[in-house]
Amino acid sequence: MRYSLCCARCGRDYHDDGRRFRCECGGMLDLQFEPSFRPGMEVGRPYDLWRYRGALPVGDDVVTMGEGWTPLLSVALDGRVLLIKQEQLFPTGSFKDRGAAVLMTHVRELGVKRVVEDSSGNAGCAVAAYAARAGITCDIYVPADTSPAKTAQIEAYGATLHRIPGTREDTAHAALEASATCVYASHVYSPWFLHGTKTFAYEVAEQLGWTAPDTLVLPAGNGTLLLGTYLGFTELARAGTVSHVPRIVAVQAAACAPLARAFEDGLDEPVAIRASHTAAEGIAIATPMRGLQMLAAVRSTGGSFVPVSEHEIVTSLRDCCRGGWFIEPTSAAVMAGARRYARTAAPGETIVTAFTGHGLKAAAKVAELMESL
Ligand SMILES: Cc1ncc(COP(=O)(O)O)c(C=O)c1O
Ligand SMILES: [Zn+2]
Repeated sequence: MRYSLCCARCGRDYHDDGRRFRCECGGMLDLQFEPSFRPGMEVGRPYDLWRYRGALPVGDDVVTMGEGWTPLLSVALDGRVLLIKQEQLFPTGSFKDRGAAVLMTHVRELGVKRVVEDSSGNAGCAVAAYAARAGITCDIYVPADTSPAKTAQIEAYGATLHRIPGTREDTAHAALEASATCVYASHVYSPWFLHGTKTFAYEVAEQLGWTAPDTLVLPAGNGTLLLGTYLGFTELARAGTVSHVPRIVAVQAAACAPLARAFEDGLDEPVAIRASHTAAEGIAIATPMRGLQMLAAVRSTGGSFVPVSEHEIVTSLRDCCRGGWFIEPTSAAVMAGARRYARTAAPGETIVTAFTGHGLKAAAKVAELMESL
């Protein structure tokens, strides 16, 4: 496997020993890696994300539960058609399995026996599940108020759970300290996670007959789906497989919108904010570590940021559930943004979005929010 780690800020290269997760300069690390996938190579392969194996920076001995190839459903909403990828149907109930499967495959290849990860819940569930499949011990750090179904899931997989009081940033800090003695399998820092989430782009392109949609409406928390999808479409466009990288419309909760604010003010870096509470726990990220890259990706595609209110999130959740889709409040926030965007879209525009997480992960919270209406 030919790859190297490269700082997104200063360009410095590093050899990968599994321990380095950011540059000396504080910049985030990306992978220098040339995918060898071309359409046709997937023919005859199982319908999972490994059908794009030539595009993935890992070997053949993969950690898998048959994940990927989620349905792309055509749904008419408010008189517009949205294509909604059913990412809540992954083994652990969210799209984070894409990243965790590739990251844990890589970590196992390095011979790592123990990892630490921090998350608002779903990435922790995914890393804990794939660590269990890989026979790797793991410690997962989450904010103390994380939905109980997610913490139960993490512990059920055999991971050691650490509930950290305070903000999401306090949780990250605790995990960072713990990582001094083992490998930090972080969905935020590790570029392997993004090479896993990029399979979202490969699947969408294949499901649309190897074409790119006009627009993608995606969540903007730490940007693992946004940056992975941007990476995937960038690779596909560079290879000439699709004609363009779709416009990315990024959704934040107005209560925690450091990127939407920066975008509006024409800034390159996330704005320092005082976040208030949002029902969308998966995107309650006040200081997104890859914020610089997220802003650059959205801008380079001619996209925009959509901040959605708590009221919009709850009404969107109710409407999705009434339509038969039991999704997380965070996913309802994405749908609120998608519906808002779709109202202004050009006629015939192809818009792809996603149900990012299953409602069963936050059932009590969903019930509470429905009652609040
Ligand atoms: C259900 C759900 N949707 C969306 C997101 C946001 O993802 P990202 O960090 O990739 O922006 C998360 C993150 O935890 C999530 O759990
Ligand atoms: Zn650097």
